Amino acid sequence: MARRAWKTRFGFYLAAIGSAFGLGSLWRFPYIVAENGGGAFVCLYISLVAVMGVPLLIGELMIGKFTRRGVIGAQKQLVAQAQVESKGTRRAKFLMGLMPSVGVLATVICLCILGYYIVISGWVLYFLGRFLSLPLMGLPSPAEQTEFILQSFEQLRGSGWMQMALALVHLGIVVLVVAKEVEEGIERWIGFIMPIFVGILSVLVFKSLSMSSSIEALRYFMYPDFSKLNINSLGYAVGQLCFTLSIGFATSVTFGSYLKDESLVPPTGFRVAFFDSLTAVIAGLMIFPLVISGAAKARGPELLFQTVPEFLARLEGGFIFGIFFFICLYLAALGASISLLETVVSNVCENSQLKRGRASLWAGVVALATAFLPAFSSSSLSNLKWHSRGLLEIEDLVLINGFVPIVALL
Ligand code: PFF
Repeated sequence: MARRAWKTRFGFYLAAIGSAFGLGSLWRFPYIVAENGGGAFVCLYISLVAVMGVPLLIGELMIGKFTRRGVIGAQKQLVAQAQVESKGTRRAKFLMGLMPSVGVLATVICLCILGYYIVISGWVLYFLGRFLSLPLMGLPSPAEQTEFILQSFEQLRGSGWMQMALALVHLGIVVLVVAKEVEEGIERWIGFIMPIFVGILSVLVFKSLSMSSSIEALRYFMYPDFSKLNINSLGYAVGQLCFTLSIGFATSVTFGSYLKDESLVPPTGFRVAFFDSLTAVIAGLMIFPLVISGAAKARGPELLFQTVPEFLARLEGGFIFGIFFFICLYLAALGASISLLETVVSNVCENSQLKRGRASLWAGVVALATAFLPAFSSSSLSNLKWHSRGLLEIEDLVLINGFVPIVALL
């Protein structure tokens, strides 16, 4: 199969950013920080991005660029080469023989994460719809508007089918884009929308930091009290950096395989990690004054969706901000979802006779099936808990803090 190559370095750069810049830094980072005690975790996380995230990201891109294949083919090629060159023991050969299964595992994880990701992307779509319909509701007081926005989220979380329907809408768009190979157009959009999003976030950070709770929030978010860290924090930090930089998912190998020979990988790795971490910090600065002010009762995965809409509903002209905020957030979720599906589809096509269209469709069907658990985690399956964590959090924990870092290191 002829490999697609990005026409410009800028195009590649946008794709890599599109994959990294998603819900990970904006939605997941703040709630993980809140669960791990604040400033000390932020320090640990940033240090690990520098010493572990950047080298792993560059490594994955290089494997792709060097082999010109997706992760499964790349592992096979590297193993074949290493076996020829090494005079290794039988055990070493056996271990090397296992490496292509790491590629298969990475692809399966991509598919499971996509199932979970489309549910959260559906939440974003839902809020976008709510903010768009706010002016039509004719609710005069900010209190009623807040009520309209927040009550609806509880209704959404209470209905697994509604979450599945939204996930299906989102997945439909993603499958279409990947099947028709129009990713580059979308990535360009994401590239243009990103500066606008950072602008909107900055205004919201400013508004949020003008609240009286901001000093305490800054202290919580920035002051490193290392006694709050434990061994679990390390697992969370490594899981978060893999998730947000798309490491251990095979995505960066696929992107690297599309790179031109003369392209330089390390500067891209540094830039992607820098912008991604910057957005995560901006998201934290926006959210923690709201949390500390007591406006939000939420914790866990619902944090962003309970703090920000409430804040926006109370803000003067907040519904315009709300519309733009959720359009940008949705495009970020779309870019990341596309790169997840693209990785699966390019690996399947490379290792089977399936055509792109069919592979996209089948991968979409499997992803939709895996979306059932997170979508019903707060309704029919809400009794399934472990240490007071619901199914959505358990899935997040097992996949992102467990499997993904192991695959990344392998
Ligand atoms: N990095 C994306 C985010 O931060 O939301 C999530 C993601 C996208 C992970 C693509 C893996 C991937 F292949």
